[in-house]
Amino acid sequence: MDMLAMQLVRSFGAEVLDSPEFEQAMAQKHHHVTTVGNHSLGVAYTSVKICRFLNAMHIKTDTKAVIRGALCHDLGIVGRYEKFSNNLVCWQRHPRESCEVAEKLLGGLSKCEKDIISHHMWPTTPVPPHCREGYVILIADKYCAVREVAASLKEKRNMKKESDRVS
Ligand SMILES: [Fe+2]
Ligand SMILES: [Fe+2]
Repeated sequence: MDMLAMQLVRSFGAEVLDSPEFEQAMAQKHHHVTTVGNHSLGVAYTSVKICRFLNAMHIKTDTKAVIRGALCHDLGIVGRYEKFSNNLVCWQRHPRESCEVAEKLLGGLSKCEKDIISHHMWPTTPVPPHCREGYVILIADKYCAVREVAASLKEKRNMKKESDRVS
């Protein structure tokens, strides 16, 4: 675990992390094996590591916007079963919903933060991000999602093996 990356997430993300909205996100299941909150923490942490790599190559990124964007990018998923009629609708609409929650929570968003959150689902939604920070989140989000889905499949396989063994 990269402690410096965790400290950056903690300090730049304090307003989000200490909010009731994030507390709800920590309780909302996501990708079968995690919660929206833990997934978002993973995306923020991975994004910081990508930013550090880019920085070493003299490519500057706004770390604060990346962290706040990462922590808020899926807040619109909270309450998904009451808000969205099915998974497809959730996929398409949660970025806008996340923007609204984040705007309220943070008292406004920078242009970059709004771009990050609005377009993080690209290419499954039609418009790509306009800033490089948006691509950082996009990559970190997909990376974390693939790991979580793989963990969920592994868990299912192990459960099946166990039930085959018992029966
Ligand atoms: Fe998302
Ligand atoms: Fe996500």
